[in-house]
Amino acid sequence: MSNQADLIVGLQWGDEGKGKIVDHMAQTHDYVCRFAGGHNAGHTIVVGEKKYALHLIPSGVLNPKAKNIVGNGVVLSPADFIEEMRQFDDLQGRLFISDKAHLLLPYHAEIDRARERMKGDKAIGTTGKGIGPAYGDKVARVGHRVGELHDPKKLSEKILAHFEMNRAVFEAMGVATPDPAELLHELTAYKEALEPYITDTTLLVWKALEEGSKILLEGAQGTMLDIDHGTYPYVTSSTTVSAGACSGLGISPKAIGKVTGIAKAYCTRVGNGPFPSEDLGEAGQRLRDNGYEYGTTTGRPRRCGWFDAVAMRHAVRINGVDQVALMKLDVLDGFDEVKVCVAYRVKGEEIDYVPYDLEDAEPVYRIYKGWKKSAGARRFDELPEEAQEYIESLEGLIDCRIGIVSTSPEREDTIVR
Ligand code: IMP
Repeated sequence: MSNQADLIVGLQWGDEGKGKIVDHMAQTHDYVCRFAGGHNAGHTIVVGEKKYALHLIPSGVLNPKAKNIVGNGVVLSPADFIEEMRQFDDLQGRLFISDKAHLLLPYHAEIDRARERMKGDKAIGTTGKGIGPAYGDKVARVGHRVGELHDPKKLSEKILAHFEMNRAVFEAMGVATPDPAELLHELTAYKEALEPYITDTTLLVWKALEEGSKILLEGAQGTMLDIDHGTYPYVTSSTTVSAGACSGLGISPKAIGKVTGIAKAYCTRVGNGPFPSEDLGEAGQRLRDNGYEYGTTTGRPRRCGWFDAVAMRHAVRINGVDQVALMKLDVLDGFDEVKVCVAYRVKGEEIDYVPYDLEDAEPVYRIYKGWKKSAGARRFDELPEEAQEYIESLEGLIDCRIGIVSTSPEREDTIVR
């Protein structure tokens, strides 16, 4: 069998703690590749005294030997990317941006925020970064690709023509037409900063696969935010599931090897939309406090609730997950009882799959006895018996092995079974 890449994918509504696992795995991989999303994603990595905020640059940037690829499936805001690059001074030769990735420009963010305002209480609760409008333009075939930065003059003319054609729509949303001279100046600055990194990354990944390099594919957001398989329309605009790694990098499904799905031992989501196992009471607040559940990109408090085994089984299947990494088990420490959603009740009927609209689904819970302390455990048999039983029971419910359990933010506090 030819060489295959390892894939990390989020199984819930994002923020599962992919950062800790990706950071760990990035140390042993030659290539780390992002395949979807934009600077709506984000995690902070602490190395010694220094803190790094990563949104678009793959986590391999912290391994001096790793090469980092931003694939064609990503939407890239040049201004934010350049800002993020400033944290590092040795990127030449180890950062590559696909010429086919789409540009996310300031007007996309303005449109995103205008649409959210216009939707009022039906707002999606986006990160306001312009993700939806950038992917929208891509699919409507009116987007602009990173490769177009090679000719800023031509690109600026195309952007202005786009504004001209959509004048009424832009005016209604209060999005001003850019000043031609300023636009050209801005695009020229982007070209100067990014041109050394722009390339055909598909060829690069193919070569890496042929050479037998170790490749890590780093997913962003989570399965329940996937444009097709999530809680539409309360989703992001990209393919966040495993399949997105193929189209977002240009590799075949056969090039995907081991799939590790990341899930928290409970559930969170930011933004609006259905969340059957949400706990609006004391327990939810306690999860938020214990787990520091506030958004990395926007600082918003996350909605919190119990592990949803039905949604998880759906995610395991869609992504072809080989093993689950169960994160933040320690956040459940000290609860007298821990709940797990094992089925949904929809219009009086109990179902064990994710229905068309999760809005109508009420959770059916199984109650587990809580435990005092799992924090810091590094071996499975160091966990309290109740925590071991919780994990073993989840494996049965989600139909997948839980191969990794994380018991604190520290890199070493990880159980590998
Ligand atoms: P957008 O991706 O900014 O369009 O936001 C759409 C939905 O996805 C909103 O509910 C966001 O809160 C959510 N979302 C986007 N990125 C992330 C993430 O990295 N973590 C968690 N939720 C996210």
